[in-house]
Amino acid sequence: MSIAEISRETETTTGHAEAIAPRETLIPNGTPDAASAPLQALRDWVDSIAALTQPDAVVWCNGSRRESDLLTKQMVAEGKLIKLNPEWRPNSYLARSAPSDVARVEARTFICSESEEDAGPTNNWQAPDSMREELDGVFAGSMRGRTMYVVPFSMGRVGGPLSQLGVQITDSVYAVLSMGIMTRTSDAVLDLIADGESWVKAVHSVGAPLGTGDEDVAWPCNDTKYIVQFPESREVWSFGSGYGGNALLAKKCFALRIASVIGRDEGWLAEHMLLVRIISPEGKKYHVAAAFPSACGKTNLAMLRPTVPGWRVETLGDDIVWLRPGEDGRMWAINPEAGFFGVAPGTGETTNVTAVETLWGNTIFTNVALRDDGDVWWEGLTEKAPAHLVDWQGNDWTPDSGRPAAHPNSRFTVAAAQCPQIAEDWEEAVPLDAILFGGRRATNVPLVVEATDWSHGVFMGATISSEKTAAAEGTVGELRRDPFAMLPFCGYNMADYWGHWLTVGEKLRFDRAPRIFQVNWFRKDDDGSFLWPGFGDNSRVLEWIVRRIEGRVSAKETPVGRIPLAGDLNLDGTDVTEDALEKLFAIDPGSWLAEADLTEEFFAQFGKKVPPAMNSELASLRYRLRTS
Ligand code: GTP
Ligand code: SPV
Ligand code: MN
Repeated sequence: MSIAEISRETETTTGHAEAIAPRETLIPNGTPDAASAPLQALRDWVDSIAALTQPDAVVWCNGSRRESDLLTKQMVAEGKLIKLNPEWRPNSYLARSAPSDVARVEARTFICSESEEDAGPTNNWQAPDSMREELDGVFAGSMRGRTMYVVPFSMGRVGGPLSQLGVQITDSVYAVLSMGIMTRTSDAVLDLIADGESWVKAVHSVGAPLGTGDEDVAWPCNDTKYIVQFPESREVWSFGSGYGGNALLAKKCFALRIASVIGRDEGWLAEHMLLVRIISPEGKKYHVAAAFPSACGKTNLAMLRPTVPGWRVETLGDDIVWLRPGEDGRMWAINPEAGFFGVAPGTGETTNVTAVETLWGNTIFTNVALRDDGDVWWEGLTEKAPAHLVDWQGNDWTPDSGRPAAHPNSRFTVAAAQCPQIAEDWEEAVPLDAILFGGRRATNVPLVVEATDWSHGVFMGATISSEKTAAAEGTVGELRRDPFAMLPFCGYNMADYWGHWLTVGEKLRFDRAPRIFQVNWFRKDDDGSFLWPGFGDNSRVLEWIVRRIEGRVSAKETPVGRIPLAGDLNLDGTDVTEDALEKLFAIDPGSWLAEADLTEEFFAQFGKKVPPAMNSELASLRYRLRTS
């Protein structure tokens, strides 16, 4: 069914008089001032991309409910979305990706700055001119037989003081629908562009043109992939993938890689962090942001339900935070996104009941399993798997199948506003009280350690390593350095980025700067089991952090930082044994000295760019370890 036919059908079923014009360029809801030069520049850009990619039609999107209803119907009709049983999951859909297109592709992600040094040793680099030439070839005719959608969006609320604008061009309806959930997609953005506000250009093609009579597949994509950022011209070009951060260009490509560069130039920070408000039993509010690598617990901590009586958590964001020092010497934070693109496996009643409740309807699920009753399932949703499922690839599945029913990186896409514990003012900036860095570390790293000052905290962030997860291609479980959880997302030289963190810190009033902590929920016992219950019980660590901020508890100095004094970590009601507690906080100077050697090696690849403060932090750490 074509979009025109769907429009007609919707007209008859809903009585809407006008529908999206399917085969012409249009700007919905009143053409903005045609005389506006910035708007003309936007149109010229759209025309130039259409000339390059040769779509059959161009449609300007406005993010309305009617638009997403039409596009959803079209996808269902084309077999690209499966409508879930509305009795269990109203207005919710399942997408199954191609088995080759299930996660971010870091090996094909490029930072094409003018100078290679600006991309740094941790990013793939190619000269912008040569990359543009290559992309011109790749994108030529890439949208043939498809419709090209123009999606104007705002990161942060439309017109907000810390917000940024973008326009994504895409030939993926799945991307349009997902962007409609994850961003503020709106034609109000066109008015701001018309007024001369700057905006980021993002071009996306799944790279699967259709010839006349060609039958489309459920998940078009291309084996050749490019995720390219041009930091100087603030542009993103993505080819070949329809999945997550590869295709929803507002997310990692813009809100992290490009935004980190804008932040460097303008004095702020774009971070891979969650954002929460913690309310103490006394009713005091504290704001905490935490940077953990992909699939290491941000969404879970963002939606925490404390097991400690009297404490409450409100959610503000689960993946990206923009931070800006304020006139008042505090650090102010916003969540630039409008939705959650969260990991499904491991999300259940006992681990993250808030997420389960958030997903009651209006959700796009990708690569989860389908139940016989038309609802969804994934590992960890319930303790016992259903007796029969259709797995993420569309095959029959039973608990004896010996393979996961949902892909390990299967995800849900849902509006943040639907979260039952979303903060009422979640679209506004909040002042930060603490920053947490963490990762998956089976060994060595204690449950919680407080940095002695900003510079020590930046060193903690810069030296984070974590076991790899299914969120990107590669070997799961392999330990790698992931400074600030930004290794795949920093749009410029990582060592310059550490320097920028130090500079931003200088703008804060020393007694108002957020306190910095390192946490590790993933330390394991000798038998391979987690030593810490995690999830809701992470509130016990947050309680200690808040009490530190309030100055109500002191701490034990160790070579790696400050840890709770015996008895200060509230363990009432848990079954954490004395032995486990000891192991959770054990600091082995030998292993830490070995890590310090690896840190030296890691720093060495950045040469002279490593800020002197980082080298002296490393020297002090070694001194403390040797003399402990
Ligand atoms: P991205 O969306 O990829 O950036 O990931 P994220 O950091 O938001 O990860 P998420 O919260 O979705 O967690 C991913 C996995 O970690 C899930 O399988 C969770 O069950 C598991 N996890 C989260 N928190 C904890 C915890 O406190 N303890 C343990 N053991 N596992 C956890
Ligand atoms: C991550 O990998 O950190 C994600 C998912 O949040 S994606 O948007 O695909 O990058
Ligand atoms: Mn993420």
